[in-house]
Amino acid sequence: MAYHLDVVIRLTKSLALTSAMLIALAFQGLHAQDGEKLFRQNCSSCHRVDKDMTGPALKGVQERWEGKEDLLYKWIKNPAAVAEMGIPYVDAMLAEWMPRGGLMNAQAVTDEEIDAILDYIEKWEPPVAATADAGETEEAVARDEGISSAWLYIIVFVLLILIFSLWGVRSSLSKLQKALAEAEGEELAPELSFAEKGKIWLWQNKVFVSIAGILVLVYFVTLGWDALMGVGVYTGYTPDQPIKFSHKLHAGENGVACVYCHHSALKSKHAGIPSTNICMNCHKAINEGRSEEGTADIQKIYAAVGWDPDKQAYTGEEEPIQWVKVHNLPDHAYFNHAQHYVVGQIECQECHGQIQEDYTVAGQYSPLTMGWCINCHNETAVRMDGNGYYDEVHRRLVDNNKEELKKYLEDGTITARELGGWECSKCHY
Ligand code: HEC
Ligand code: HEC
Ligand code: HEC
Ligand code: HEC
Ligand code: HEC
Ligand code: HEC
Repeated sequence: MAYHLDVVIRLTKSLALTSAMLIALAFQGLHAQDGEKLFRQNCSSCHRVDKDMTGPALKGVQERWEGKEDLLYKWIKNPAAVAEMGIPYVDAMLAEWMPRGGLMNAQAVTDEEIDAILDYIEKWEPPVAATADAGETEEAVARDEGISSAWLYIIVFVLLILIFSLWGVRSSLSKLQKALAEAEGEELAPELSFAEKGKIWLWQNKVFVSIAGILVLVYFVTLGWDALMGVGVYTGYTPDQPIKFSHKLHAGENGVACVYCHHSALKSKHAGIPSTNICMNCHKAINEGRSEEGTADIQKIYAAVGWDPDKQAYTGEEEPIQWVKVHNLPDHAYFNHAQHYVVGQIECQECHGQIQEDYTVAGQYSPLTMGWCINCHNETAVRMDGNGYYDEVHRRLVDNNKEELKKYLEDGTITARELGGWECSKCHY
């Protein structure tokens, strides 16, 4: 009798463990929807899985690119580069699609994100209401998503109940087993407290426990790191630009000052992207690049401002260059270039790196997170000497000799933080 009970107890225990594993899997399932989210965020403005829009339907795309998987990833991240490689499949696609949708633009997604998107496309099933028209389908998809995660939650809930009830069964069975054993007059191991049992279990399973502990720790550390770095941080993000404008050539070799082109940085919040007229200051005369490609790019400037280099006259047909923006702070954050460059006397390079040496096409150098901003505010002494804006402030600080002002000058410097650079409202609308 006692033996049979033992078997039942073991059974309930493994059932409970299996349920726990199923719960873990269910959460994995919730996670796997990232691909769908990424697709909606990045691709759904031009693509559907099942039908052509601005871009082709993406169903079966992996088969179409079979043997060229590397290129597929490259294509998504940088279509222009792949378009130039003369691959027959790509050329045929472009011949069909360029007239309809133009060239796809570069997508700021990582290889892992592409993995998730492709996985989503592969597993995609038509929503229940697949016969409905486009607008309704979209709704159906949204509803479908809601339903599937609702299902997962229900399953998790049911499994949790199962675990708890199994646990209850198990403990009453254990009691029964003990009573039976006592009745049969068997020697029982001395009763141990829960903590003692736990300790023994931990000790007996120390290898497993330490590995599990490390895994959990790593998981949370990476989670925390991702959160801190913030979604949408693309350090080193250098998108493809319509013209391969080179900072190295202009600001580096030719020594053109940053603010010659980005003159808004002198007086406004934005540094801005220079208008094509600024390019024309020099390029009316410089109509040849160092390579055919460079020359062709200079022709694009002419096309943009409507300049006929043969007649040396404007035609009036303008077609502005669509530069891809690299830096993007969220709307709730306020950053001002003039404040930093003119008043703070901080060089462009402190925040943007050695753009004149390292970047052909400008890229993002700093993380642009809040941590990055306030860190510098804490460390950077405001440059007051010879800074007209501060002469007056400085004079007053020294002259008045007020106690509360003196504490700022204790270490001989005033940091941006001490001037209020850590106040939420200075940076948040
Ligand atoms: C602004 C519109 C646009 C966006 C956004 C866009 N694409 Fe495209 N995509 C196109 C166009 C147009 C084509 C067809 C080729 C061409 O003309 O460049 C294309 C082609 C493709 C192809 C090749 C299709 C085939 O049949 O071989 C893939 C793969 C692709 N896109 C993936 C993506 C992914 C993944 C995303 C999101 C991360 C995305 N695209 C975002 C417009 C877009
Ligand atoms: C001859 C004009 C010119 C000069 C000089 C110049 N830039 Fe630019 N800059 C541009 C153009 C055009 C773009 C847009 C294309 C690109 O992103 O590469 C740009 C883009 C940028 C961007 C990225 C903007 C974004 O989209 O977020 C940064 C940052 C930048 N420049 C910084 C600098 C710095 C720092 C210097 C001085 C070392 C400098 N630039 C000198 C013309 C210029
Ligand atoms: C204290 C750090 C800092 C300094 C110094 C700085 N920038 Fe920026 N820059 C930023 C940040 C942050 C952004 C993103 C702003 C946004 O998205 O609103 C940015 C964006 C830009 C852009 C994109 C267009 C725009 O206005 O948003 C250009 C171009 C640029 N900077 C050029 C320059 C140039 C040229 C200088 C020097 C004259 C300079 N920056 C100095 C931090 C800095
Ligand atoms: C202060 C003068 C000046 C300004 C302003 C200027 N450029 Fe240039 N650009 C040059 C010089 C100099 C060259 C190099 C020509 C050479 O060496 O053959 C050049 C070359 C180029 C090339 C050819 C590069 C190559 O690899 O051959 C392109 C493309 C170009 N510039 C784009 C632009 C654009 C776009 C703008 C406006 C945002 C601009 N330039 C503004 C002076 C200028
Ligand atoms: C390289 C160092 C540095 C970085 C990075 C930096 N700042 Fe600053 N910031 C300063 C300094 C120095 C001042 C003080 C300038 C002054 O007023 O003399 C300042 C001042 C300011 C002020 C005005 C504060 C006041 O008291 O009026 C604001 C707002 C501000 N920064 C926002 C930002 C934001 C937002 C970011 C990040 C996107 C940022 N800063 C990144 C150095 C930095
Ligand atoms: C020096 C400028 C600065 C100051 C001071 C500052 N913030 Fe921020 N904050 C930022 C910037 C820039 C971002 C956007 C960062 C990003 O996109 O990763 C941000 C983002 C945030 C976010 C959103 C986080 C996220 O992940 O998007 C919150 C919430 C926030 N700040 C709260 C605060 C509070 C509360 C304070 C005052 C204690 C404060 N901030 C002071 C610059 C600042």
